[in-house]
Amino acid sequence: APLDIVLRVNGTEQRLTLDPRTTLLDALREHLHLTGSKKGCGLGQCGACTVLMDGKRVKSCLSLAALAEGREITTIEGLAQSEELHPLQAAFIERDAFQCGYCTPGQIMAGVACIAEGHAGSPQEIRQWMSGNLCRCGAYDHIVAAIQDAAA
Ligand code: FES
Repeated sequence: APLDIVLRVNGTEQRLTLDPRTTLLDALREHLHLTGSKKGCGLGQCGACTVLMDGKRVKSCLSLAALAEGREITTIEGLAQSEELHPLQAAFIERDAFQCGYCTPGQIMAGVACIAEGHAGSPQEIRQWMSGNLCRCGAYDHIVAAIQDAAA
């Protein structure tokens, strides 16, 4: 039977009626029309769907929306404050850290967690933390540089 849930996304409570098997990614994209989070593999292997849940990164394609109830979800749409880009968003532009852009929202959300959790101490440490976020254009060096800049 459909399930009524309340999701707190980017500071706003959203009431949804969903199939209990709906992933957090599909709830965000299909029900809330927050299409910044991308579906790459749908299998937890690419990181394009990365969002923050209570500040921790999660792959939203592997999370059930129902289990996100009561948690604070942050997506790429909620990162900028009014007109001001988040420092990591600005650093991605400054460092040319994307080409096609498909992986970028997930890269940025994972990068925000990388900095917040203190794993941005060196390029090696950043690479290791970010290893679950794939970029088919191969912009890795620029992504690492952007995270390093934003962490400094
Ligand atoms: Fe979730 Fe690839 S879409 S990890």
